[in-house]
Amino acid sequence: MTRPSLPGHPHFACREGELFAENVNLRELAAAHGTPLFVYSKAAMLSALAAYQRGFAGRHAQICYAMKANSSLGVLQVFARAGCGFDIVSGGELDRVLAAGGEAGKVIFSGVGKTRTEMRKALAAGIGCFNVESEAELDVLSEVALALQLRAPVSIRVNPNVDPKTHPYISTGLKDNKFGVAHEDALRIYQHAASLKGLRVVGIDCHIGSQITDATPYLDAMDRVLDLVAAIEAAGITLEHIDFGGGLGINYNNDTPPEADALWRQLLARLDAHGYGGKKLMIEPGRSLVGNAGVCLTEVLYVKPGEHKNFCIIDAAMNDLPRPAMYQAFHAIVPVTAAATKGAAEMTYDVVGPVCESGDWIGRDRALSVVAGDQLAVMSAGAYCMSMSSNYNTRGRAAELLVDGDQVHLIRRRETVEDQMRQELLVKG
Ligand code: LLP
Repeated sequence: MTRPSLPGHPHFACREGELFAENVNLRELAAAHGTPLFVYSKAAMLSALAAYQRGFAGRHAQICYAMKANSSLGVLQVFARAGCGFDIVSGGELDRVLAAGGEAGKVIFSGVGKTRTEMRKALAAGIGCFNVESEAELDVLSEVALALQLRAPVSIRVNPNVDPKTHPYISTGLKDNKFGVAHEDALRIYQHAASLKGLRVVGIDCHIGSQITDATPYLDAMDRVLDLVAAIEAAGITLEHIDFGGGLGINYNNDTPPEADALWRQLLARLDAHGYGGKKLMIEPGRSLVGNAGVCLTEVLYVKPGEHKNFCIIDAAMNDLPRPAMYQAFHAIVPVTAAATKGAAEMTYDVVGPVCESGDWIGRDRALSVVAGDQLAVMSAGAYCMSMSSNYNTRGRAAELLVDGDQVHLIRRRETVEDQMRQELLVKG
């Protein structure tokens, strides 16, 4: 029996009772490479990208993948080859872009705390734009650029003060967030930027939050930003581009975010109505390009029935999949091999990892038919999992595979304890 793909996961499907990524059997991958194991579908990434490309057809637009969502080189390579630029937040991320074959000229550098060293490195590489988040940062960037006899291309991140209606830790466009400059201060700060000799003002940007599942906050933010564009240009400062950030959500658990092309149809209509349809557009999507392109395969180590709760203890943990512990996030958990073939009774489990923290849970109250040795797939694990993983409890980072049709590419070897201890030193004597 071939069941259609899992909801929200068009490139992961159950065939003859077994889960596949594109044309590759996940049980066989887990057996060959061990668990925990991240598996990504290249076709899923490219089809998520295609939705944005359709939305921008005929427009002057640049998609800059927000690589904090998943910065593994093999993933960056997919987007670099597809013509994407990158949104970076550190000098280290710039090194990764260059190592993966990305173009410096298509890089935008976001973040509230860029250091002078990072600024120098990005200027020397010739990045496309610095998204500056404070007045103090403008002054420092101008000084650093002048010392290199350069002018830094800048855009100022404006905080439109709209509520993206998402988890408070991933809202960024509200007044009390640390990000961006206040809407009411923006014109004055633009005038200051235009007066600094080491800067070249090229754009404006905003980013209101992440896992946004409704178009309204985007439309509101666009209105707020376009009002400012009018005021800034009226003051004689020309803006070459408008950057609307990232933030579009994915379907984790019956979430219904708009499709990227449908969202952009609405946003472009608004842009045209304001008379700015001809301006270059930039966006910084992260999660929506990779989130549902990845799964984390894990093995059931023990089943532990209890008086109040049953625990299903797996070999992946909060160090591999930090989102449930950090944001109470939901990831679907499905068997890699259909439960019917095993005959275990269905029970309700808390699915937990081996880390010594009560916060180390991956799913709560999940109905599963499992026995020790079974493999499970934690879905929607392509974004903010590997890139946020840690070595807590001296656990090595998982291996990563990129599936392309029936081809499998190892894009990260499993981390060993030697890898983890490499930078550490015993005290001599
Ligand atoms: N641009 C800027 C300036 C950002 O701060 C972010 C994400 C993005 C773009 C990409 O947003 P996306 O399209 O991925 O929503 N770790 C959290 C998400 C943190 C998002 C931080 N900023 C999570 O796992 O839900």
